[in-house]
Amino acid sequence: MRSYGGRVFLLGEHLRRLAASASFLRLRLPYTQTQLAEAVNLVAGGDSSIRLTVTRGQHTGSLSLETDHPPTVIIQAKPVVDYPEEYRRSGMPVCVSAIRRDEASPIVRHKTLNYLESLLARAEAAERGCGEALLLNTAGFVAEGATSNVLWVRRGEVCTPSVDAGLLAGIVRELVIRLCCAERIRVHEGLFAAGELLEADEVFLTNSLMELMPVRSIDGQEIRGGAPGPVTSRLVQAYRREVERSR
Ligand SMILES: Cc1ncc(COP(=O)(O)O)c(C=O)c1O
Repeated sequence: MRSYGGRVFLLGEHLRRLAASASFLRLRLPYTQTQLAEAVNLVAGGDSSIRLTVTRGQHTGSLSLETDHPPTVIIQAKPVVDYPEEYRRSGMPVCVSAIRRDEASPIVRHKTLNYLESLLARAEAAERGCGEALLLNTAGFVAEGATSNVLWVRRGEVCTPSVDAGLLAGIVRELVIRLCCAERIRVHEGLFAAGELLEADEVFLTNSLMELMPVRSIDGQEIRGGAPGPVTSRLVQAYRREVERSR
């Protein structure tokens, strides 16, 4: 999560996703949403990046989802260190990873601590001079970024993989889809081949810390409409207005 001037942006949405995933993963959250929100707000001073982690608690020595101990909740906050200004100004170079998202995996739609594939993909991207890796799913359709969602613009309309492509339904992705509706920009959610992404006029990534991050190139191929393109810039403005409204 990210706070702006001490206010956590979209806190309710983050906590609802956490509760839904906890329930799916059979973790009994020991606190109510209100209690968690109060705890998060306590550490959310200034512009912070905040991580709320729930573990299964003290390990009993058996490999099982059932434990006799309550889950442990950890909340960490640190000042936001923004991405390089150059990325915001002229876009982030990204590359397509050889690692695939498994759209049939039961955990692919949940934010869990199973981050190794994403971290390997990011390390590979960094070695290639890129700020993020894009992952296809096992059928070859575009899924998401290693730590972000991907959206793109074609002839003034926004496209993004649907959740069944195998991705985390990002809170920022959801907000951007709502903002597109408010701005009367058509949104297509579906299964898209990687080629469609390469032919896009504009590409951008979303997550709570990146917000909307324009993409400059994919595997060295420049995005034709430049970065940030006009539709991305419009959505960045709309996002900023939402942040201001929430403060
Ligand atoms: C794999 C993955 N997809 C998407 C996202 C974007 O999520 P959100 O918009 O909720 O920050 C993240 C964020 O960390 C992520 O790890």
